[in-house]
Amino acid sequence: MSFKNILIEAHEGGVYCLTINRPKVLNALNKATLEELNQVLDQLEDNKLARILLITGAGDKAFVAGADIEEMSQLTVFEAKCFSEYGMTLMRRLENFKLPIIALVNGYALGGGCELAMSCDLILASDNAKFGQPEINLAVTPGFGGSQRLTRLVGRPMALELLYTGRLFNVNEAMRLGLVNHVFPQPELMQEGLKIASQISGKSRMALQLIKQLVQRGQDVPLDNACIMETDQFALSFSGPDQTEGMGAFLEKRAPEFN
Ligand code: CAA
Repeated sequence: MSFKNILIEAHEGGVYCLTINRPKVLNALNKATLEELNQVLDQLEDNKLARILLITGAGDKAFVAGADIEEMSQLTVFEAKCFSEYGMTLMRRLENFKLPIIALVNGYALGGGCELAMSCDLILASDNAKFGQPEINLAVTPGFGGSQRLTRLVGRPMALELLYTGRLFNVNEAMRLGLVNHVFPQPELMQEGLKIASQISGKSRMALQLIKQLVQRGQDVPLDNACIMETDQFALSFSGPDQTEGMGAFLEKRAPEFN
């Protein structure tokens, strides 16, 4: 299947790279692009070879500079609600998606772009990346979960400062705030992303999925319940062939091979 606003590329070992491809508008997310993103996820869900997804933006200037302001400028109240609900559901789908997802932030990640990055499991950024939730400058609130995810990631006072002022912040500040995992020189970002992806893609798909579920769901429930969830997932990880292979390989002093 080919897409108008998205490129999808398969790499070795079940690593897929999705590029938001609207460089003329700094990869702004219009409704059509959000729909295509959902279609890619549908395909990956059915793809038994897929192990990990990387998401980046076309060009060297932007990851995603936000939701498409031209398209949004025409929305009625009802349409704005539908647009937000659609984007919100997509971000939640990424967060709960059964594969690990890494954002490669190669420039501006603003508004919906910052929200997209924060919905991924890891954020790797290029040294020229800039983050921000500048919706306040358009006299609107974030619409794809930015007010909630930013607050959970960086804490209330800093989230409110960033949301009130709409100021952009660079990778040094993003590192300090704990928003990004690593920063690389821009020309090396893709290569480094693929390297980290390949460290993950060879692991047990089932164990990766269980860990993602634990971290995503566990953070919203009391610790006692989260620990019970971990016990259950731990037990569940003994139900497939991967645990036998993983522990067997250790005992036989060889590298495990997971199918
Ligand atoms: N939507 C639509 N078009 C956008 C866009 C966006 N979010 N961001 C950039 N563009 C377009 C510009 O209009 C421009 O198009 P033209 O060449 O046709 O004029 C092109 O991309 C290049 O942008 P600039 O000329 O502005 O580039 P710059 O280097 O001077 O500035 C920038 C870069 C600081 C990122 C600036 O483009 C900018 O501030 N963009 C908007 C950022 C923003 O406000 N994002 C939040 C959107 S609201 C949102 O996302 C809500 C939500 O949560 C769902």
